[in-house]
Amino acid sequence: MGTFLITGATSGIGRAVALRLAEDGHDVFGVGRDEARGEEIEDASPRITFLKCDLSEPDEVEALMDGLKDQNITLDGLFNNAATFGRPGTPERLPASAFDEVFDLNVKATNRLIQRALPLCATGASVVNNAAIVGHVKFPPMLGPYAASKAAVIALTKTFAHRLKGKVRFNALCFGPVDTPLSHKLYGGEAKFHEAMTHHFRGNAAKPEEVAPVVTFLLTAGSSYLNGQAITIDGGYSLS
Ligand SMILES: NC(=O)c1ccc[n+]([C@@H]2O[C@H](COP(=O)([O-])OP(=O)(O)OC[C@H]3O[C@@H](n4cnc5c(N)ncnc54)[C@H](OP(=O)(O)O)[C@@H]3O)[C@@H](O)[C@H]2O)c1
Repeated sequence: MGTFLITGATSGIGRAVALRLAEDGHDVFGVGRDEARGEEIEDASPRITFLKCDLSEPDEVEALMDGLKDQNITLDGLFNNAATFGRPGTPERLPASAFDEVFDLNVKATNRLIQRALPLCATGASVVNNAAIVGHVKFPPMLGPYAASKAAVIALTKTFAHRLKGKVRFNALCFGPVDTPLSHKLYGGEAKFHEAMTHHFRGNAAKPEEVAPVVTFLLTAGSSYLNGQAITIDGGYSLS
């Protein structure tokens, strides 16, 4: 059994992945900002430890990783999952500052976590970066900074995969719509999200529990020959 660091473990996809890993007998460090939801995942499994950290704050990331290093933690995998879509807006008019919040979390924190996690990683460990179909195969006009950040996450994934040559594997997952608070917010509320999803290729979005096994597969040894890929997981959504 292994030890995994999961960011954004207090909600949505990250929470489902943390619970699934714990159910499979792994130990999980789950990162987020919301202490109440952090306690809730700890209560759900004795294998999950919640670590409070605002990943947009470099000092907090350093302290988080110092803490794991001080405990001599060896990581078998890292799921870089926490992200924001920022402020949707017309690309011709978005101020440069609209990129800051999105890139600070989605790209710079991901890069910082990888850099700090690598010395703690076991040989053969796996890093999975949560990208999106947005920035990979879909480019909605109002989500420029988010799409650019996810394209950057894919580039970072392939760069690290090339550099580490399989000693640590790196793959990016590009999900289509998943039924989470983030997508509800993006569509202007849960009801609007579900209404929009009636037009999904298969009629509905995935629940986080449906996609979690894809992540746990990539994080663990069964996927040992998968490296440097950006994989679309969208139930066929991007075909239409
Ligand atoms: N849902 C979709 O349709 C979809 C599709 C494609 C890709 N994705 C990607 O999937 C990932 C997870 O999204 P989700 O839909 O599961 O969203 P979610 O349910 O809103 O969860 C987001 C998680 O990120 C954490 N987080 C956000 N900002 C943070 C920060 N500054 N520091 C630490 N943690 C932070 C949140 O924790 P706290 O609130 O506790 O801080 C929460 O646990 C994202 O990378 C997203 O781009 C989602």
